[in-house]
Amino acid sequence: MKHEQIMELIETAADQLQYSYVPYSGFRVGAALLAQDGSLYTGCNIENAAYTPTNCAERTAFFKAVSEGVRSFRAICVVGGPDGRLESYTPPCGVCRQVMMEFCDPEEFEIILATGKEDYKIYKLRELMPLGFGSENLA
Ligand code: THU
Repeated sequence: MKHEQIMELIETAADQLQYSYVPYSGFRVGAALLAQDGSLYTGCNIENAAYTPTNCAERTAFFKAVSEGVRSFRAICVVGGPDGRLESYTPPCGVCRQVMMEFCDPEEFEIILATGKEDYKIYKLRELMPLGFGSENLA
């Protein structure tokens, strides 16, 4: 992926932190999902008083895209931290990794973890989800 594109994803993900609804954890997460067609879908985490219905930033972005008919993706950038302070990487939770497995090729899909434009690392989904269960397992 081009450096310019990585910078745009980091900036877009960080811009989402302001929309996080986090009255319980105070931990803000922002995501920027790049589709194969070049379009960008954004997401933030949305918490709930009953806790379980909480939706992570990554799934917010995926579900926005899929609900608009987009199902092919290239990369996602995730940033987060207490009160939105980006002190360390925020790796996707297991549920979000499973959602990624549903719509992405684990050998190709890239996950960008960042604390800012100067500090990021790119992982393939396969690295974060070795031996993951996917639709091929049901074929
Ligand atoms: N969270 C995300 O949004 N993405 C992740 O992959 C990790 C966790 C959110 C859920 C909850 O609102 C807060 O971070 C603390 O767990």
